[in-house]
Amino acid sequence: MQTYRYEVFTSVIEHKIKNGTLLPGSRLPSIREIKKEYRLSMSSVQSGYEYLVIKGWVKNIPRSGYFVASDLKKATTAQSSPQKQQIKEETTFSKNVKLTSVRNRPNEYGSFNAATPTDLLIPQKLILKKMQEVIREKAASLLRYYPVNGSLKLRELIASRARQYGCALNSEELIITDGALQALYIALASVTRPGDTIAVESPCVFSILEVIANLQLKTIEIPIHEEIGFDTAYFRKICNENDIKALVVTPNFHNPTGILMTDEIKKELLSVALMYEIPIIENDIYGDLYFGEERPSCIRNFDESGLVMTFSSFSKTLAPGIRLGWLHPGKYYVEAEKLRFSLGRSVAPIYQELLIKLLEENSYEKHLRVFRKQLQEQATAIGEALSNYFPDGSHFYKPAGGYSIWGRLPERLDIYAFYHYCETHRILFTPGEIFGFGNQFSHYFRIIFADRINTKNVLSLQKAGEKARKLLPE
Ligand SMILES: Cc1ncc(COP(=O)(O)O)c(C=O)c1O
Repeated sequence: MQTYRYEVFTSVIEHKIKNGTLLPGSRLPSIREIKKEYRLSMSSVQSGYEYLVIKGWVKNIPRSGYFVASDLKKATTAQSSPQKQQIKEETTFSKNVKLTSVRNRPNEYGSFNAATPTDLLIPQKLILKKMQEVIREKAASLLRYYPVNGSLKLRELIASRARQYGCALNSEELIITDGALQALYIALASVTRPGDTIAVESPCVFSILEVIANLQLKTIEIPIHEEIGFDTAYFRKICNENDIKALVVTPNFHNPTGILMTDEIKKELLSVALMYEIPIIENDIYGDLYFGEERPSCIRNFDESGLVMTFSSFSKTLAPGIRLGWLHPGKYYVEAEKLRFSLGRSVAPIYQELLIKLLEENSYEKHLRVFRKQLQEQATAIGEALSNYFPDGSHFYKPAGGYSIWGRLPERLDIYAFYHYCETHRILFTPGEIFGFGNQFSHYFRIIFADRINTKNVLSLQKAGEKARKLLPE
């Protein structure tokens, strides 16, 4: 079983709570004190405390610190029967999604909230030119239904592209969808019924949580941390103790943390899923946006069982208005195809033909090479601004690719005053609290770097950072 650095202090706290040395409600050492005593990094201590919160031993009171949970019965029952304690019965995701879906108004000082390529980064000229060519060449044939699972040519192109990074997709088993979220919906609906329990990463992007809520599923959140990535040991434990119907993961450049799962963890996760026969629903929407040398692998690369259902779309790499995604549903193809049909027969032919053109002529690859470089430069510039201007005790994850930086502000800071300031000064971030069903991410926020960096948006980060400093009590 994997061990984590933070266990040196979490095991001591857990032990002291169990033997009564630490009583319910008593204050626990601060992050700083633990860091000093055990010579751990801030993020290790934070991860350790998050782990104890998830297990039910510890409670986090924003702006006050960590305390032994007042209802320890819950934690102890969670040890023997976690089903009651860890499953989120709440099937309606009622967080303030309004905050995220508000369209950016012109003249925002800093729009760091929309996970989509901005107008400046969308290859507008290329897309519009190719669309015109498609209309000229395909003419009235674009007005017919295309096959339910999509154009065969497009499926072959997607499959042959995936083969280049070791991901064996069978073009006969691919289904073209209206974007990635529809692919997720189909994948989940193929293997679950309302009331079933599934596992998801925590934090998790709210759009995925919305789909889960819509399907009336219960969830168990599997923590992911900066240092360890996906907690496979915790996943194994959850699988052992619950009837999990599926796992939803974004292994490559997870939104919001930007974490890239190592191949080792991907394989470990797959072996747990195989052992318990749990379908893995793998979201690879950010896989092409890597900052390293190589395109990362998918969990699907290592699967021969058909238990892995991989999906993606071109919303993040080309433009979100091109509603074109795909799903490789493995052994659940028959259910998935039926669902695709019921959701509207076929994806708009014009988008399918557009993608065929972009893939066939290699324009997609050429665009990606430039796009990845731009994103990486923006991630570096924004990462530097954040660490320069935000107060000590803040922490920002370093993304390995994708679009987002996950930030944490000091617990003592009045987070609502911070958001109020940002809102009134039109500096837009996404509040951490909407990335989970509980309130464990109240001091986190997501910063998107999909807009071209300029003096105006760096200045807005400076203003937000200075405000955060001022909001810290002396
Ligand atoms: C992880 C993730 N999956 C899916 C989506 C939605 O993708 P699409 O627009 O292709 O439905 C998003 C972005 O909104 C996302 O961040």
